[in-house]
Amino acid sequence: MNLCKKYSDFTRLNIYQIYPRSFMDFNGDGIGDLQGIISKLDYLQDLGINAIWMCPCFKSPNADNGYDVADYCDIMDEFGTMADMDELISEMHSRGMKLILDLVPNHTSSEHKWFLESRKAKDDPENPYRDYYYWYDEKPNNWRASFGGSAWEYDETRGQYYLHMFAVGQPDLNWDNPEVVRAMQGVIDYWVDKGIDGFRIDVIDLISKDIPNDKPGFGPRLHEYIHAMFGREKTAHLFTVGESIVKDIEEMQRHCGEDREELSTLFQFDHLECGRADKFTAKEDSLKTFRDTLILWQQETEKRGLLYSLFTDNHDQPPFISRAGNDRELRYESATGIASMVYLLRGVPFIYQGQEIGMPSAHYDDIACFDEVECLGNYKEMIEDKGLSEAEALEKVNFGSRDNARHPMAWDGSEKCGFTTGEPWLIAHSRAGEVNVAADLRADKQGRSVYSFYQKLLRLRASSDAFADGSFKVISAPEDDYFIYTRSLGDEKWAVICNFESAQEIELPFECEEPALANLGRKEAAGAYAPYECAAARIK
Ligand code: GLC
Ligand code: CA
Repeated sequence: MNLCKKYSDFTRLNIYQIYPRSFMDFNGDGIGDLQGIISKLDYLQDLGINAIWMCPCFKSPNADNGYDVADYCDIMDEFGTMADMDELISEMHSRGMKLILDLVPNHTSSEHKWFLESRKAKDDPENPYRDYYYWYDEKPNNWRASFGGSAWEYDETRGQYYLHMFAVGQPDLNWDNPEVVRAMQGVIDYWVDKGIDGFRIDVIDLISKDIPNDKPGFGPRLHEYIHAMFGREKTAHLFTVGESIVKDIEEMQRHCGEDREELSTLFQFDHLECGRADKFTAKEDSLKTFRDTLILWQQETEKRGLLYSLFTDNHDQPPFISRAGNDRELRYESATGIASMVYLLRGVPFIYQGQEIGMPSAHYDDIACFDEVECLGNYKEMIEDKGLSEAEALEKVNFGSRDNARHPMAWDGSEKCGFTTGEPWLIAHSRAGEVNVAADLRADKQGRSVYSFYQKLLRLRASSDAFADGSFKVISAPEDDYFIYTRSLGDEKWAVICNFESAQEIELPFECEEPALANLGRKEAAGAYAPYECAAARIK
């Protein structure tokens, strides 16, 4: 008997990801907060959302905007109080919405009590926190931190090096210590008792390490630790999605197979390579590679009955439409066309805040406009170690910075975007005057609201067994400049047609009803003609 819920229990979720710091500021201090989220629940429910993944909201000194947790069981001061959190949970549950929290088990903040104790405890076997982290007299390998520099930092107090795969203020927890496993189970149980419905798990594949090795990730005890977190009676009902580095279906099977009692699903990132050579370097690309990667994962996950996560954007990714679409002249078409390529597939959709209005990437002429630790670390490395000019490095930062996804949500076109009455913590999005919720809703009169397209798409998903649980079949050929697929369950059969760059007439091998969803509103054909034109229609 399998303890964890089946993947089919989750195919009706329409999940919206919130970056709380940037979503909505209720008390005017310039920082988004929990009351701000509560004030927008109706907006989200209207969109068709029934679950929220909220990025970390726990106590944190914000070396990495909350991914450096100083207390897993308390709320970040700027976001509100535990009473606000309880209110958010009950407001959501009364609307039938689920709340998914962001669990960061790989590392804590260097201001977490565990670390403060651990750094004092080198010669104190009585101190239970002594071996909570990786401590070495000499650096045992040459691992680099994701945010630049060595992954080993010398700590004066302890007189030893500790490991940090990310910022200096994010020491990695030592999961080989059973006390750490128990402590993290305690954190999970605390939130389960509060009634939350699931977790997104940060950099899950890093928690088990093989220190002397020269490559981090997929350590020997990874699955034992994931199982210890989620393969328990207490957690069996949770929806869990791991942020993962898996590259193939065998690996995904080990994380998410129904017999494994580990995760419900995971994020894999293959399809997001489209349009870039690396994080900070653009590359000319066609949506064909994107489509073909999606097809591969669709087929493999269906064959094995695995739940696939459908997403293109998150708080670490610059908006996908800006590198894979045309975010100027064809912004509406790109945003809606790409949405139909992804969100009608088999799996569970995740929509990142701003995506529902087609928010593109931003652009600034001054490095001082940037805030996030990864791009600043890399900017420094580009200039100091790689010999780039400041202008070249700035272009790369503009392309790849995670701030592209972190500007205050543009609720309207005013100076402070309707996000705050105070000074926003991060400069307004450079295109917020043009692209914002109010403007998008006004564009509905011309049939060009991205929000309204998403709304129809999510309603279609919610009302159809074929989209929730039906099988996937690709109809277009690899050489085609478009993507046609079907979703079917019993007698209910749908065709989804998405054109790419060029204007072309697409012949369908079957007869369709009038489209239930079409971004250019054309009724005469389910076939697509214009760039990024898309439609979903029932097959007769
Ligand atoms: C994940 C998060 C990212 C964070 C990093 C370290 O990749 O998504 O935002 O910086 O882990 O916690
Ligand atoms: Ca606030």
